[in-house]
Amino acid sequence: MKAFTHLRDLGPEGAQEILARAAAWKQKAPGAIFQDKLLAMVFFNPSLRTRASFEAAMLRHGGNAIVLEVGNGTWKLEDREGVVMDGDRAEHIKEAVPVLAQYADALAVRAFSSGLSDAEDERDPILSAFRAHSPAPLISMESAREHPCQGLADLLTVQEAFGTTKVPLTLTWAPHMKPLPKAVPNSFLLTAAACGADITVAAPEGYELTAEVRAEAEAYAKATGGSVRFTTDQAAAVKGAKAICAKAWGPATGSEAAPMASLQPWMPTAAHMELAAKDAIFLHCLPVRRNLEVHDRVLDGPWSRVVQEAGNRFHVQRALLASLLLES
Ligand code: CP
Repeated sequence: MKAFTHLRDLGPEGAQEILARAAAWKQKAPGAIFQDKLLAMVFFNPSLRTRASFEAAMLRHGGNAIVLEVGNGTWKLEDREGVVMDGDRAEHIKEAVPVLAQYADALAVRAFSSGLSDAEDERDPILSAFRAHSPAPLISMESAREHPCQGLADLLTVQEAFGTTKVPLTLTWAPHMKPLPKAVPNSFLLTAAACGADITVAAPEGYELTAEVRAEAEAYAKATGGSVRFTTDQAAAVKGAKAICAKAWGPATGSEAAPMASLQPWMPTAAHMELAAKDAIFLHCLPVRRNLEVHDRVLDGPWSRVVQEAGNRFHVQRALLASLLLES
C-alpha cells in the first residue's frame, strides 16, 4: 500500500486485515518496528485525537514524528493549479510536499471540507494535490471526503463488543449549530459496509450522503454479504441496532439547513438507546457537544464506548503505519 487516503485503498479485504492486525497488536504489542522512521504530519485544521494518536503510534514503536500546522509557523499552502499566487498562500503544495518527502519516510495530512459543495468534497482538492505530488507514502488524517482511520477505529470497537463486525449498526444524524463536514459519516458507512455489517443510515430529508458514497457502500456490502439502508425514520433505524453511531453533518448541496428547533428531537437520548438491542453500544468520533449533539445520559451511560473508540485510533493507525512504512 503506497497511500491510505480513502477506504478504497484497502478495500474490504484490506480493511479486515488491518482490523485483525490492530486487534492482535492490542493484545501483544510489537517492539521498535518504526526505529529510524519519521512521519511528517501536516495539519490544515485542529485535532486532539488524531495528532496525539499518530504521534504516540510513532514514538511508542521507536520512530519519530514532526507536526506542521499550516499557517501557524509555516507558510500557507496553495493547492489550486495555474493561479497567480498574490494572496496569503505563499507556497504551493507542488513544492512543499516533495520537499517534506525528502525529510520524512511518510507524510500524513488533515484538510477538512471547504464547505463549498458535495462535488468539491468528492474532488478532495487538498488531499488530491498531496497525493499527486508526494513521492513518499501518504496517509489521510481526515479530508473532505473521508476520515478513513476513524472508520476503522469505529469498526474495531464494534468487533471488540460483539466478536464480529457483521451485526446491525445504525448511523444517525445528530443536531449541531453548524453544518459540519460529511467525512466521518461517510467513513462509518463505507467501513461498516466493507466489514459486512448491516448498516442503516438515518438522517432528516435534505441531509442525504452523496450518491457516490452511497453507491460505493452498496458495492462493498454486495461483496461482503452485508447490507445498506437509508431512511428518514430514526426510531425505526435504531430499533434492535447493536451499535448506534451519532454524528452531525450539514445538508446535501442544494438543500437548505432545516431550522434547529425542528431537528432537536434527533439528538440521541437514553430513550433512543432503549429502543436498540439490550447489549447495544454507542459510538461518536469525538469531540462531541453534550446536550446539543448527544444527551449526557447516553455519553455517561452504560452504552457509551466513545473513549475506547478514540483509544482504538492508536491501534488501527500503528497497523496502517506498519503497512505504509515497512511493507510499501
Ligand atoms: N475524531 C477525531 O478525529 O478527533 P480529532 O479531531 O480531535 O483529531
